[in-house]
Amino acid sequence: MKKILLIGNGAREHVIAETLKRSPQGCELFVFASANNPGLMALAKEYRLVKSLNDFEVLRSFAIEVRPDFAFIGPDGQVVAGAADVLLELEIGSVGPVKICAQLEGSKAFTRELVAKYGIEGSPKFKVFVTADGLREFIEELGEYVVKADGLTGGKGVKVSGEHLHSVDEGFAYAVECLNADGRVVIEEKFIGVEFSLMSFVDGVHVLDMPGVQDHKRAHEGDTGPNTGGMGTYSDANHSLPFLRPGDLEAAHAITVKVAEAIYKETGKYFKGIMYGGFMAVRNGVGLIEYNARFGDPEAMNVLPLLKTDFIDVCERIIAGNLESVEFENKATVLKYIVPEGYPENPRKGEKIEIDEIPAGVKMYYGSVDARPDGVYLSGSRALAFVGIADSLEEAERLAQSAVSSVKGPVFYRKDIGTAELIQKRVEVMNQL
Ligand code: AMP
Ligand code: GLY
Repeated sequence: MKKILLIGNGAREHVIAETLKRSPQGCELFVFASANNPGLMALAKEYRLVKSLNDFEVLRSFAIEVRPDFAFIGPDGQVVAGAADVLLELEIGSVGPVKICAQLEGSKAFTRELVAKYGIEGSPKFKVFVTADGLREFIEELGEYVVKADGLTGGKGVKVSGEHLHSVDEGFAYAVECLNADGRVVIEEKFIGVEFSLMSFVDGVHVLDMPGVQDHKRAHEGDTGPNTGGMGTYSDANHSLPFLRPGDLEAAHAITVKVAEAIYKETGKYFKGIMYGGFMAVRNGVGLIEYNARFGDPEAMNVLPLLKTDFIDVCERIIAGNLESVEFENKATVLKYIVPEGYPENPRKGEKIEIDEIPAGVKMYYGSVDARPDGVYLSGSRALAFVGIADSLEEAERLAQSAVSSVKGPVFYRKDIGTAELIQKRVEVMNQL
């Protein structure tokens, strides 16, 4: 019986826990959490509720007490802050890279410079500025541009011309704001195309992809409203996406392989964990938007339920450096998140929600909720994820929709995610490139 320490308490960690528990090896889960997630609590041997996931002193003593076979670091915050390094000092390996490798997610400038230095394809034209010298001129030269704050900002630090920034003056002013805050800012060419996520298991050398997924960042139907952590996602039975061309996933894979190799050359450390590339299918290939150094939320819930390979074995191979192969079921998935009314700007909190019986073919994962003796309460962010799993996207969408529409409380969701109509719009964007 393996002992596994899992850090995090969201829906992503709920599906990670569920998938570890499916392993024929059997395991005991020791969860390091800062909120009462009822899904995780039900799966845990021990649920250690702490004030902050960033309290690494408390993490260290928990790890000494538990002596796990390995750890799994779910959220970006703890990956980037170096939870893996703290555990490594105790000779505990983690799925989740050490801090120096986690810069891949923690610093947009690091990643852009790495990709450029090693001559890897997919990069937009970009410059990293540490003063405002030449900044206005570069924005003018690009025409359509993106301004990126350097640190972890939950996607909120990125502003795109034509969407959030409407003139050179506005772009310049926001870039100077970022410079003043972080001491540097990335300015880059804007890609035109359709975004997709490709997540890969990485042991430092071997890169094994999961099915491609498409996320929906905007809060409201028709891709309107503010950016969120992701309102829902889908993946297709053939593990590609309906709008991709032959070769797009292979091109994205090739970038990830080269970046994994470059990280090792640059830092002397192997990246062990999940490389989650945000890519854009553009006119002449695939552009790299960014890397995250952990599973996507919600993307993890599309792919992990389809994993046929023993997940504990995959994790141990990531840590040992001997990944060989992984297999996923050929099923389509559609995920819709239930979020509080007012999310993301002014979410309702502390209110109770009622969940109906979950239909067959649907999985439910608990996100930002608080389990209390009398029920489940909203705690301000994405609350419940429902995933329909079926042979076709159409059926998976129907299943997810039947489940989300039964939740009662001050919540909303995006009805259009995974529908034929919205997917067709992506196909049309690709056809017009
Ligand atoms: P990031 O935090 O890097 O994922 O950026 C947040 C969002 O900004 C992405 O999901 C894209 O929609 C958009 N974005 C970032 N970089 C670019 C780019 N070079 N071209 C077009 N859109 C971008
Ligand atoms: N799906 C967005 C994220 O996990 O960052």
